[in-house]
Amino acid sequence: MDLNKINIPQHVAIIMDGNGRWAKKRFLPRVMGHKKGVETIKKITIRAHQLEIKVLTVYAFSTENWARPEEEVNYLMSLPKDFFDSFMPELMQNNVKVTYIGNADPLPEETKAILDKAIEKTKENTGLILNIALNYGGRQELVEGIKAISQAVLNHDIKPEEINEDLISSTLMTQHLGDFSEPDLMIRTSGELRLSNFLLWQIAYSEFYFTDILWPDFSPADFDQAIEEYSKRQRRFGKI
Ligand code: FPP
Repeated sequence: MDLNKINIPQHVAIIMDGNGRWAKKRFLPRVMGHKKGVETIKKITIRAHQLEIKVLTVYAFSTENWARPEEEVNYLMSLPKDFFDSFMPELMQNNVKVTYIGNADPLPEETKAILDKAIEKTKENTGLILNIALNYGGRQELVEGIKAISQAVLNHDIKPEEINEDLISSTLMTQHLGDFSEPDLMIRTSGELRLSNFLLWQIAYSEFYFTDILWPDFSPADFDQAIEEYSKRQRRFGKI
């Protein structure tokens, strides 16, 4: 199929799962799976750019991932540095803009600084948005949104009857993505059939694509296959 002629999703969100199992199969430490997983993000970012996708959101660390062994958490927190140190020239060359969703407060200072630097350096880029979800949780995002709306009601800035879907969307971390804040396609690798607290509000009408392929093995051709499958689906948004 000619990917140039098919219906390409504008926002693709990915739950990059299976790094640990990839490493285990090779008798390697789990972190080696994450290391290989970073290389996959690079390849898929370039492919998404080539396909003229507008937003690629990658779930790099959930609010629940802190419960992993300290060594693994520390390693995951060090990955943005490896990623941007080695990939920034290509991101710039390909006009990719980096953005962030999640709660940055508990992140190590160095991780925060690296992310801020990447966001700042790429902020004028106008191509693909690579939106990194790090210490992100969909429920926590909604809690913060509800707090903001409650405060606005208490301050008499809005009336309860003025609360609507647009207002709720505007309190979410994906607000900066404007018209593309809701994923058209959500991909999860490694055979797990769960949402794991990812973009709960935004995913209401997304198409889901699950594959058994482990994230470190997920190739641009596999990504194309997901896009092809998406293009065959008929999205009805509740209508007939
Ligand atoms: C899930 O695999 C993967 C993660 C929890 C981390 C994903 C993170 C990356 C690929 C790198 C992020 C880096 C940047 C630059 C944003 P798992 O460990 O749960 O695998 P398993 O289910 O097989 O154990």
